[in-house]
Amino acid sequence: MQLHTVSQLLSQEITLPEVEVKGWVRTFRANRFIALNDGSTLNNIQCVVDFENTDDAILKRINTGAALHIKGELVESQGKGQKVEIIVSSIEILGDSDAETFPIQPKKHSFEFLRENAHLRTRTNTFSAVMRLRSALSFAIHKYFNENGFYYMHAPIITGSDAEGAGEMFRVSNLDAKNPPLNEEGEVDFSKDFFGKETNLTVSGQLEAEAYAMSLSKVYTFGPTFRAENSNTSRHLAEFWMIEPEVAFMDLAGNMDLAEDFMKSVITYVLENNREDLEFLDKRLQDEEKTKPQAQRSDMTLIEKLKFVTENNFKRVSYTEAIDILRNSKPNKKKKFKYIINEWGADLQSEHERFLVEKHFKCPVILFDYPANIKAFYMRLNEDGKTVRAMDILFPGIGEIVGGSQREERLEVLKEKMKALDIDEKELWWYLDLRKYGTAVHSGFGLGFERLVMFATGMGNIRDVIPFPRTPQNADF
Ligand code: 4AD
Ligand code: MG
Repeated sequence: MQLHTVSQLLSQEITLPEVEVKGWVRTFRANRFIALNDGSTLNNIQCVVDFENTDDAILKRINTGAALHIKGELVESQGKGQKVEIIVSSIEILGDSDAETFPIQPKKHSFEFLRENAHLRTRTNTFSAVMRLRSALSFAIHKYFNENGFYYMHAPIITGSDAEGAGEMFRVSNLDAKNPPLNEEGEVDFSKDFFGKETNLTVSGQLEAEAYAMSLSKVYTFGPTFRAENSNTSRHLAEFWMIEPEVAFMDLAGNMDLAEDFMKSVITYVLENNREDLEFLDKRLQDEEKTKPQAQRSDMTLIEKLKFVTENNFKRVSYTEAIDILRNSKPNKKKKFKYIINEWGADLQSEHERFLVEKHFKCPVILFDYPANIKAFYMRLNEDGKTVRAMDILFPGIGEIVGGSQREERLEVLKEKMKALDIDEKELWWYLDLRKYGTAVHSGFGLGFERLVMFATGMGNIRDVIPFPRTPQNADF
């Protein structure tokens, strides 16, 4: 006998006299029909039990959630709803599940409830589909870069510099928090800490990736990043995964081309390889949309939205053009925005980004050439002396999904910028070295992986697309 996955069994064209499968009970009805799932597919295999010839003690233990080992014959199904089923010859209970206390009952649970049971939520169709898609997207990302001549580079998780300035950082320390060593000024003496200095969890692998781009030419990172910003929104996590390609000899236009081609490629991959899960999530989203007032409903289904991205060009718009559009927009004139756009130089809030993408352009937008003083120090200064070669990609329903730029490769310009922002040259000596020895035009971007998974699955809350979310006041599991 051969152990099969449920997915393998369901795609069999022929009957098989002897099959073996292991999985968890979704439902058991009429003392006869077990719906068994092992996570290999959204669908369950129906296992038909000959209850008259099965020990009563065993039948009583076939509860929702129990782990079973089933042997039997795979036959064409007599009933409706499935092509094949297993006529069970033996059942072994691998792990019992108390029907009274198992939290995942065969009924609709709220996402809030399932978040509290995140260790069991992948026993549901929605979360198993989301997490299979997350896995597929992650594979598609590695595949894309691998096929396009990039090296996968592992940036450090613990860093000694807050170069990005992307937000608050999490300190890494093994000093005794209750009784830390103090220096003569009475401050905590970090020279006594594990690394002999202050260290934090990384907010981005970009600066290290730049070093590698300046030797291996095309690299990317794909790893966890951490931000201690206290933003309790449906789009922010304290721990999230970021993909950061960095390419030597590539300018901002090349960066936009790369980002667009990359995003289209990974979305095409799941459209071609994860159809069953996408169709399920599409239907889920349509049901959810029906509960909203007409005006708020999306005019596209999930699969239509994904195809729309793969089939249409992203709209490229300069910051200056975007500000003009926003200034003259209805919500700005009628003071419907929380932050009214009055003049050039204003930082864009998510309400503005969403207006541009969802109401004005109605397609993915790449905004570029932002004012220097609202962007990070490493972005390349334009000839106008006031804008930098930055780009953000905005997606419908998500807002900012990618942030990137052409990097400042001129040593003197970079030094001046750091001075103006009070960034210590000593701390970034190695970063400046890259501009001293063989500097070159180079660019890159960061894609927030969970925001991509949100877009591809149609899930509305970022906490529902990462296995065990970390957010302010929450680090359960
Ligand atoms: O725009 P950000 O801050 O850019 C950087 O970190 C650059 N170093 C990237 C680069 O050029 N290599 O972050 C990049 C992306 C955002 O566009 C967003 O998708 C995601 O990371 N992101 C978050 N995702 C979830 N939770 C958060 N708190 C996030 N902060 C940023
Ligand atoms: Mg950003």
